[in-house]
This record gives sequence, structure tokens and C-alpha cells, in this order.
Amino acid sequence: MSVAQTSIVLAEPAKQIKISKHIYGHFAEHLGRCIYDGFYVGEKSTIPNTAGVRNDIIEALKKLNIPNLRWPGGCFADTYHWKDGVGPKENRPTIVNTWWGGVTEDNSFGTHDFLNLCEILGAEPYLSANVGSGVVQELIDWIQYTNFGGESPMSKWRRENGRAQPWNVKYWGVGNEAWGCGGHMTPEFYANIYRQYATYMNGWSGMPLYKIASGASSNDYNWTEVLMKNIPHNMVDALALHHYSVIDWSDKGPATGFSEKHYFATLEQAWMMDSLIIKHGAVMDKYDPKNKVKLVVDEWGGWYDVEPGSNPGFLYQQNTIRDAMIAGMTLNIFNNHADRVVMANLAQAVNVLQAVVLTEGEKMILTPTYHVMEMYKVHQEGNLLRSKITTPDYQLDGKKIPVVSVSASKDSTGILTVTLTNLHPSKTQETSIDLGAAYKAYTGRVLAGSSIQDHNSFEQPQRVIPKLFKSAKLNGRELKLTIPAASVIVLQFEAK
Ligand code: AHR
Repeated sequence: MSVAQTSIVLAEPAKQIKISKHIYGHFAEHLGRCIYDGFYVGEKSTIPNTAGVRNDIIEALKKLNIPNLRWPGGCFADTYHWKDGVGPKENRPTIVNTWWGGVTEDNSFGTHDFLNLCEILGAEPYLSANVGSGVVQELIDWIQYTNFGGESPMSKWRRENGRAQPWNVKYWGVGNEAWGCGGHMTPEFYANIYRQYATYMNGWSGMPLYKIASGASSNDYNWTEVLMKNIPHNMVDALALHHYSVIDWSDKGPATGFSEKHYFATLEQAWMMDSLIIKHGAVMDKYDPKNKVKLVVDEWGGWYDVEPGSNPGFLYQQNTIRDAMIAGMTLNIFNNHADRVVMANLAQAVNVLQAVVLTEGEKMILTPTYHVMEMYKVHQEGNLLRSKITTPDYQLDGKKIPVVSVSASKDSTGILTVTLTNLHPSKTQETSIDLGAAYKAYTGRVLAGSSIQDHNSFEQPQRVIPKLFKSAKLNGRELKLTIPAASVIVLQFEAK
């Protein structure tokens, strides 16, 4: 009989914690081929589309139950002037995308295009406002344009542009990376600017807006400290946090064909998300012991060198089993911190960084990360179970990270979902789980490759796809399974 190397005990938490569906959010910036020649091909394209947006992408994202989509940036947001993107397309001025490749865009994808797309997807829009190079009035006008049902200059303009009813956009980001591309501000200066913007944001729709302050970069705890100290908590709903799994900003390494050293270093960065949430959370607790102000990790994912031959400013990269590991582990971390993290946005949805969808002409492929998001979607709105895990370390060059990660939730019908990742590139993991109650049956799926570099390509779009996982042994409340090397598993259990 094999002895379990990893053991997990699931238990109901003392207080019920819901895993917000918004943890499974996405991000679409005007960057490279994310919007233009990605989502948006234009009404006249021969690629099947709805109002210019590719139907295959719409279908793929709907299957993820995509809960929200962040737009128009990123760094681009702080250069974007929304008024240039509404009205007849032929009259719209151009904009030079100075952050990403210096390309000239024709503004043909604007506010109506984005908000109508969100309606089609059934996703909440999350608009990132221009604070860096904009003015307060520009944001007030945008809110009035998208949300005001009464008579006003902006609602009149919206109606003239073909939209009678407001969209009622709830989620608003007040700038992006204010410490960097959003204005290189100090936290003290940004906190004041934030207060000024937030003062004028309410009152344009029946519902209160959900206001998200531009938060820290990775482990900049001082940024969080100053914002929590200087922004009144009734003026802010959440602080953002950005953290990318990047080995070294000056030498990121390739997206495919990487070494085990690269693999380990990337996952070490991804695992850091756990301590970032704990430590930023501790700073927030100091000023807000009731945990009113939440965390929104609105940019996360792996960041590598661009694909050889592609525009360096377009951030186009392939997506391998390594990315599936980042996604599986990070989503487990978010689920386990669902009392603090209420929203997250993978960077980015299409053709940029850790994308779920890649396109080439009329072809579209789903990446390993897509499949993880699809496998994990059953956690959305579930009640979190506490997972106590004992697992060995995956070690390399004297560094270590836990080899297995887990999260668990129960849906409203009593179905238990457990998701697991085994990060080890070559070792399987004998695992036992005490499910906390007896279950009569389970279903399972696994995503694995023949190597950590495995990925889908336009020639082989189905190389990495989830397969049925039937080899676990269920005995009442005990489950025993062998988790394949470098794999992600989802298990669902039917109550007795
Ligand atoms: O996601 C790419 C870029 O990364 C975003 O524009 C910016 O916010 C971050 O630095």
C-alpha cells in the first residue's frame, strides 16, 4: 500500500465565505492584438462576427461563464479619452498607442462596442478611468454617459448614438498603476487625487458605484499603508493589486522551450501571490479591522519574452503547461482568500501575455490556461471550505515551493468541488483527502501534458485538453488519488 505524500483535510469554516464569481474575471487592453485583430475584426470582416467582435471568441468566453471584463487598460487607460470612441465611426479621431508599439488606432472600438460586448457575454464591465492624463470632468461625463437614465447632456448624446437605456456600469477603476505608467505618483499624492475623483463619482444611477483605487505593485506594502491611512474608507470599496509571474524584467525567458530553472522561478513568483495577499491584508486590517475594503487583483499572470518575430510592444506569447500551473495555483490561492479577494483579472484575455485565447487570421485556439479557467468555473459563487494541507516541497537550487495546492467549495445544491495542482515537473503525488463528510460518487477531469512545455498551436489545437479522471478511490469521506506530474485536476462530489 502506498503512503500518501500529500494529505488534505477539508472542513466548514467558522464563518461562511462566498467565492465571488468575479475572481474569475478577465482583462482586455488596447495592447497589441488583444482588441484590434483579436476581439474586434470589424463588421466587414469575413470572420463571423457580431457587431465586429469575433463569434468564436464570444462563444469561448461564454463557456467560461466570464463574470467581468476590464477595459480599456492597463497603461493605455491613462491615455484614453472615451469621447473619441463614440459616435459615427468614420468621424472618430485616431489615437497613437504610445505605451504599446506606437501604433495608430482608429477608435472604432469604443464605449458602445465594449459595453454591448459585455451584455452579449453576460459579463459585468469594469471600466478603468483615465486619471493620469485626464480630468475629473471627463470621468464624471463617462459615468453620466453610461449610467444616467434622466435628461442630461451626456445621456442625450448616448441616445443620439443609438443607446436608449443606460448600461449601469458598477465597477470603476480610478486610474491604473498610479505609481508607474498612471502618472508616477507618490502614494500620498495619489491618495489625494483619488479622494478628489471619488467625490464626484456617485449619483448617476440608482446603485452605488464600486470604486477601486489603483493599488500596489507586488510587495509595495507602503503603497497600501498610505492609501488605507489617507483615503476615508467610505470613499473606496477596494484597492487593486498587480503581480506578474516574471522571472526578471530584463531577462524574462522564453514562453516555450524554457528550462526547469525558468519553470521553477516562474512558479515561485506565482506562489508569492499567497504571501502578498496575506501581507497586504495585514496592513489593511490595521486600518480597517472589519475588512470593509477589499482586494481586487486586477492584473495577474505569467509574463515572458514575446514570440520571436512578433512586435516587442505587442506582448504576444505562447501558453504552456507552465501557465496551466500558474492559473491552477493562483485560482486556488484566490479562492482560499475569498474573504479578502473579491475580484481578479487575468492579464489578458486574447493574444496578450497569459491569454486564454490566441488567434491567427480566421483561426482561434484555446490555451491550457483557458482549460483551467473552464475547469475551475464551478467554484464561482460557491461557499469556501477550509483546506488544511500537508505536502512536500518542490525544491530547486536550495529554494522551495509547496508541490500540491488545493481549494474546495460547496455549491447551493451541496455539490463539493475540489481543485488540485501538482507543480512537480516529473513526480506524481500520492494524495489522500478527508472530505469532511461522506459522498456517494465523484466525477473528475485532469489537464496534463507530456512535458511542461506542452502547448496548443494552430497546427495542433487539441494537444493539451482536459481528459476524464477516473482513477481516484472514494470510500465514504476518504479519497485517495495519484496526481500526475505537472497537472491540474477538478473533482466534483455528489452528497449521499
Ligand atoms: O498588462 C500589461 C501591462 O502591465 C498593463 O498595461 C499595465 O497596467 C501593467 O504594467
